Amino acid sequence: MEITFKTTSRLSSLVCSACSGYFSAFESHTLSKCCSMPLIAQYELDAKLFKEDLHQRAGTMWRYRELLPVISDANIVSLGEGFTPILDLTNLANKYNLKSLLLKDEGKNPTGSFKARGLSMAISKAKEFGVSGCIIPTAGNAGVAMAAYCAKAGMKAIVVMPKHTPRAFQEECYWLGAEVHLVDGLINDCAVKAKELNKNNELLDVSTLKEPYRLEGKKTMGYEIAEQFNWQLPDAIIYPAGGGTGLIGIWKAFAELKALGWLDASVKLPKMVAVQAANCQPLVDTFLGRQVNAKQYIGQPTLANGLAVPRPIGEPLMLQVLKESNGTALSISEKDMVAGIREIGSSEGIFVAPEGAAVWMAARQLVEIGYLSSNEQILLLNTGSGQKYIENLTDKH
Ligand SMILES: Cc1ncc(COP(=O)(O)O)c(C=O)c1O
Ligand SMILES: [Zn+2]
Repeated sequence: MEITFKTTSRLSSLVCSACSGYFSAFESHTLSKCCSMPLIAQYELDAKLFKEDLHQRAGTMWRYRELLPVISDANIVSLGEGFTPILDLTNLANKYNLKSLLLKDEGKNPTGSFKARGLSMAISKAKEFGVSGCIIPTAGNAGVAMAAYCAKAGMKAIVVMPKHTPRAFQEECYWLGAEVHLVDGLINDCAVKAKELNKNNELLDVSTLKEPYRLEGKKTMGYEIAEQFNWQLPDAIIYPAGGGTGLIGIWKAFAELKALGWLDASVKLPKMVAVQAANCQPLVDTFLGRQVNAKQYIGQPTLANGLAVPRPIGEPLMLQVLKESNGTALSISEKDMVAGIREIGSSEGIFVAPEGAAVWMAARQLVEIGYLSSNEQILLLNTGSGQKYIENLTDKH
C-alpha cells in the first residue's frame, strides 16, 4: 500500500541489517526478503531539525516526532508512553562509594514496562498499513503492551505466552481484551504456536525485530537519555537484554543524534553492558566464545521472565553494539536478582522488575572487578515495575 500524504516524519527507507539491501519504507514488511533478518529504519538526518524545538513538546516519546516512522499523526496510537524519569540512587551510591549512580525507571510507562514504547510504535504503524489485528509471542510484558495498544486502536489481539508466566500478565491481557494462549515452554515455543494460530497470515506478527518498528519505539530511550543528560551521555549504560531491541535501539538513537549534530562529535559514547539471567544467557555465552552463536541454545525459565529468550534473532546486532561500544555481557543468578530487588526497594523506594535488579547486581559485579570505576557515571535501566512478578517472589523472603 502506497502512502502519499504530507508528513513531518523524516523516514526515508528500510535496510536489511545483514546485507544493507534497500526496502521501501512505504510498504509493509516483516523480515528482509534477502536474508530473513531484521529491517532497520533510516531517516533523512541532514534535514534541518533543532533540539531547541523540543522544549515546547509534550513529555512522551512522541516529542521526537520527526525521527519516528509514523507518517500521519492520525495513526498515532498513544497512551502517554515515554519520557520516564532518571532517578539518582544516592543511598546505594553512598553505600557502595559510587560517584554517580542513576536509574531510568521504565516501570512508569503505560502497562508498567518499556515494552509500551515498542508496541505503541508497532501498532501505530500497523494502523497506518490498515492491519486489522496483531499476534505476539511474549515473555509477558510485551503481550500486555500489545493488548493495550490494540485495544486503543480497535484491533484484534492474540497473545501467546509461556504457561508459567505470572498470572498478573495473563489476567491483564484478558482485561485489555486480548485472546490469550498459554504454551508449555519458553518464548521460542510460543513463536511456533503463534505461527500455527496465524497460518492464514490474517494477523500481523509483531514478534521482536520481525517487524521494523518496535525498535523505533525502543530507540526513544536513547533520545531521552541524551536529552535528560543535557546532550551529554553517561559513561556506562547497563541494560537487561532478552530479544535485544532496547540495547540495539539505544545505540541506534546515539548514532542518529550524532548524525543530526544534537550530540556533539566530541561526546563520548557509553560502554553498553548487556545483562542476562544465568538460567538463560545465550548472548553471554556467544560473547565469551563458548558457542559460535545462540541458534541451538537451550534456556531455562527465570524469574526475570523477559530474559528467557534462548535464541534471539537480533543476536548479531547485539554483539555489534557490545563490540562498537567496548561493552560487555554478564549474567546474574536467580538468588542475586531477588537480593537486588530487596536492596533497591529497601534503600531507594523503587520496586523494580527482576530484570532491573539483575542490572544493579551486574553493576556491583563490574565495579568489584574493576570494569567500571567508582568515578564513572553509571546508568541502570529498570525496564519494568516489580508488581506483576510478585508470584515469582513468593517464598523468597
Ligand atoms: C522487564 C523486561 N526487561 C527486559 C526485557 C528484554 O527486552 P529486550 O527483548 O528488548 O531485550 C523484557 C522482555 O520481555 C522485559 O519484559
Ligand atoms: Zn539482506
